[in-house]
Amino acid sequence: MEEDGPWPPHKAPLDCGGEESDLEMKLLLVLTFLLTINVLCATPPRPNFVLIMVDDLGIGDVGCYGNKTLRTPNIDRLAAEGAKLTQHIAASPLCTPSRAAFMTGRYPVRSGMAAESIFGAFIFSASSGGLPENEITFAEILKMEGYSTGLIGKWHLGLNREKRNDFYHHPLNHGFDYFYGTTVTHLRDCIPGNGSVFLAGAAGFLKQTFVIACITFFTLIFLNYIGIIQIHWKVFGYVLLCIIIFVVPVVLFFWNFRNLNCFLLRNHKVIQQPLIYENLTQRMTNEAVNFILGNQNKPFLLFMSYIQVHTALYASAKFREKSKHGIYGDAVEEVDWSIGEILDVLNRNKLQEATVIYFTSDNGAHLEEISSSGEIHGGCNGIFKGGKATNWEGGIRVPGLLYWPGVVKPKTIINEPTSNMDIFPTVVKLSGAAVPQDRIIDGLDLMPLIQRESVTSEHEFLFHYCNAYLNAVRWNQRNSSSIWKAFFFSPIFYPEESEGCFNSHVCPCFGHLITQYDPPLLFDLSKDPGEKNPLTPHTEPNFYNILRTIEEATMNHRRSIPVTDNQLSVKNVIWKPWLQACCSSWLEFCYCDYDEENWSWIDPPKYKNK
Ligand SMILES: *[C@@H]1O[C@H](CO)[C@@H](O)[C@H](O)[C@H]1NC(C)=O
Ligand SMILES: *[C@@H]1O[C@H](CO)[C@@H](O)[C@H](O)[C@H]1NC(C)=O
Repeated sequence: MEEDGPWPPHKAPLDCGGEESDLEMKLLLVLTFLLTINVLCATPPRPNFVLIMVDDLGIGDVGCYGNKTLRTPNIDRLAAEGAKLTQHIAASPLCTPSRAAFMTGRYPVRSGMAAESIFGAFIFSASSGGLPENEITFAEILKMEGYSTGLIGKWHLGLNREKRNDFYHHPLNHGFDYFYGTTVTHLRDCIPGNGSVFLAGAAGFLKQTFVIACITFFTLIFLNYIGIIQIHWKVFGYVLLCIIIFVVPVVLFFWNFRNLNCFLLRNHKVIQQPLIYENLTQRMTNEAVNFILGNQNKPFLLFMSYIQVHTALYASAKFREKSKHGIYGDAVEEVDWSIGEILDVLNRNKLQEATVIYFTSDNGAHLEEISSSGEIHGGCNGIFKGGKATNWEGGIRVPGLLYWPGVVKPKTIINEPTSNMDIFPTVVKLSGAAVPQDRIIDGLDLMPLIQRESVTSEHEFLFHYCNAYLNAVRWNQRNSSSIWKAFFFSPIFYPEESEGCFNSHVCPCFGHLITQYDPPLLFDLSKDPGEKNPLTPHTEPNFYNILRTIEEATMNHRRSIPVTDNQLSVKNVIWKPWLQACCSSWLEFCYCDYDEENWSWIDPPKYKNK
């Protein structure tokens, strides 16, 4: 047990010689005066923040949202002793845009972080796109307010822009003092033996292109040789040179993909390339505990952004084969353990009442994630339809918990619509800062709802985007229990009876694989949360009036969206060799491992067996 020590804990030496006692006296008076003012004004103390985001976790994977077989006691404790949001909506069903919205409190289309092409998220660490510098993150504001700000885990909002070490989109350039993690998405290709979705698809496409190019090339040579066509032989030389110039880097890139794309950074330094994942959740936990211990005497913000439970799945030895849901369940249970460690360190240091903990997922579970042996590697979205990459409720309705003992009443349940964009104004206001006035902030302060000062959400409309395309609109009608949701299009599920796009692995937002609706497909989520029965003018007498109101709101919303540079344009997402982070020389294939020295195993996990 620790005693409440003086603050600051280490007394500064006051021995300055000469007239120290006089000086001390004056200082004491000034201090007493300042303290009195502080007490009189009774400004509430600024809380610390631990914001927890799990990657691709489904709302149906968590005990407090109804799962009975996956063990998440620590997450459940946040709900039991805090507030549970039952209609918490991610601003996008995909990682990059959802995280951009979370960090800025704004729809991703406002910052150019929503794609018009099929590349909805950053896949290469050496892309040039990323969160624009003129966007303001909550970390930036809190840092200015004197907070220590740390990000541990996944960023996924860019790294470099023009040079391989300009760190233009790096977390340290967006308000974080400390970063330990990865800047791009996790992929199956990052862990040998986990199969491949992205690389296998790309390789198939490139191989096909290459074969067609070769056949054409040699046919032309043959036709030229027998005299049917007449092309100067030099031209063939140039074409061959072009093919080689294009093919060599592509082959090298694919061959060394794991090193080039799966690496760990500490601040600006690559500390492990390729990343060894097995114990990563443990190492991240260790980092989080150290960050909290190192900052316990000043306000801090920790964004704990787990790499799991995105594929490739992993869990450390103590969790493997312990859950009832294969490696997916093991990974979730390890994340839950990790959250328990964070709660523990806050408790042990008497920080629990001084710290707001928020828990969420960036989007719904990725239903199409099934291993080559048929094991389910995607989570569960409970009663909700569809999953990641769709705007059916399963893609965007995520867990949302807010835990703040002493302020938020235990077992608070909020059924009103809330958004992951709400964290921005909530955190900024609680830190004592003002929300920026020079731009539209789409998020709304959560505290009035959570403290029951208001009963209805101020989010009358929420706009659900599929990348840059407006996909659906939610209308939380005032003075009515109805929550209308109108779809302008939806992806075509394959196989038909499934709830996913098992042909393309990620559901598309445009093209021939979607169905357009005119009039829009309308649901009342208050009666039909599973989105099973579209309403018609017969079943809903106000059908056309409802659609008219939604259309008007949509027009107003569209008018508020500026034209910006698209950070996810094809030009900005492709691999650019000159932006590639590499911790050794290219001849050594970008290999290094400096991380070992800095971490040690924490307490043994609490789970023993199934
Ligand atoms: C993970 O941690 C365990 C326990 O300390 C250790 O035995 C194992 O070698 C570690 N794995 C890797 C890949 O470092
Ligand atoms: C709990 O989660 C697992 C893993 O995602 C899933 O298979 C199971 O169906 C879920 N259980 C319930 C009751 O939702």
